[in-house]
Amino acid sequence: MIGRLNHVAIAVPDLQAAARLYRDTLGAKVGPPQDEPDHGVRVVFIDLPNTKIELLAPLGDNSPIAGFLQKSPAGGIHHLCYEVDDILTARDQLLAKGARILGTGEPKTGAHGKPVLFLHPKDFNGTLIELEET
Ligand code: CO
Repeated sequence: MIGRLNHVAIAVPDLQAAARLYRDTLGAKVGPPQDEPDHGVRVVFIDLPNTKIELLAPLGDNSPIAGFLQKSPAGGIHHLCYEVDDILTARDQLLAKGARILGTGEPKTGAHGKPVLFLHPKDFNGTLIELEET
């Protein structure tokens, strides 16, 4: 069902500092910051030859990553994003196998303008998984 690793997301307390680290220290291709008010985050994407890194910082008062950063103030790996061909088919197959979908269960529009869903980390070895339709 799942295809390529689309990105690894890292929650960071300071988006500019993290973007500089990837650009200047690691020599990566760093994109511009973009606000995603629907998801309560501001993101920067980093293009690597085989995948992407998504740097995530809180946006607004009820950011879903605020709690994560409280527990891990230096930041840390927040989720993995796998590509799927058809997100509704993937969702229905996962639900039939007992996996839990976060939120309403309906896809939202993700950072690339594509539909995304998140799977409950307790069902997947403590890892938050994002599915993105490609
Ligand atoms: Co993501």
